[in-house]
Amino acid sequence: MSADKQTSWSYTEGLPAEDDVLLRARERSYELGVAAVGPGVGAALTVLAAGTKAQTVVEIGSGAGVSGVCLLRGLPQAAVLTTIDADVDHLRAARQAFVDAGIPGNRTRTISGRAADVLPRLTDNAYDLVFVDADKPSYPQYVEQAVRLLKRGGMLIVNDALDHDRVSDPAIREDSTTTLRKVGKAIRENDQLVSTILPTGDGLLLAVKR
Ligand SMILES: C[S@@+](CC[C@H](N)C(=O)[O-])C[C@H]1O[C@@H](n2cnc3c(N)ncnc32)[C@H](O)[C@@H]1O
Repeated sequence: MSADKQTSWSYTEGLPAEDDVLLRARERSYELGVAAVGPGVGAALTVLAAGTKAQTVVEIGSGAGVSGVCLLRGLPQAAVLTTIDADVDHLRAARQAFVDAGIPGNRTRTISGRAADVLPRLTDNAYDLVFVDADKPSYPQYVEQAVRLLKRGGMLIVNDALDHDRVSDPAIREDSTTTLRKVGKAIRENDQLVSTILPTGDGLLLAVKR
């Protein structure tokens, strides 16, 4: 990568100015040991939520609510975010972030549990957007569930799709890297999906269900 490209990347990642609500949610993420999306990914989520005009959203991996607040800020007024996390302390922090952001309670559905148990209970073809940001070994399963959950025209977003810049190097055979490499390939080869990867953050894979 040229030095100019690196400078441009740092410049764009540093552009989003975050308010106190997001900064507090970041602080709680840090205290809980949660890796929240960075400001660049957060801003991209807000724009994608606004652009898709999604009314129904599923988030897998609430963390302390940073990505949830970013999504909700882009969504239309009546849209509902269903967010799933296996850790009750993380979910409590996410709920706090939603309250801090002034999000009415009826716009969020926080579900405590393992996503692999919760997702099969959600309705087919009922969601406009699914954001995956949880345990990497389960990503293949989450992507399969997301394709089932999405309406036609709905968007799947997979965070950390480049696995800290390791996916592009075939010599790296870490489990998480291999999983994300396979997930990317499966999505590219799925005729139901049209997809791309943005290099924002650690890679944001976007796929739309035809
Ligand atoms: C990277 S953090 C999510 C960060 C959040 N999206 C944000 O940007 O603020 C991953 C989250 O996934 C949750 N998690 C891990 N394994 C899970 C599972 N099997 N089912 C549901 N949630 C899980 C963790 O508790 C953690 O809160």
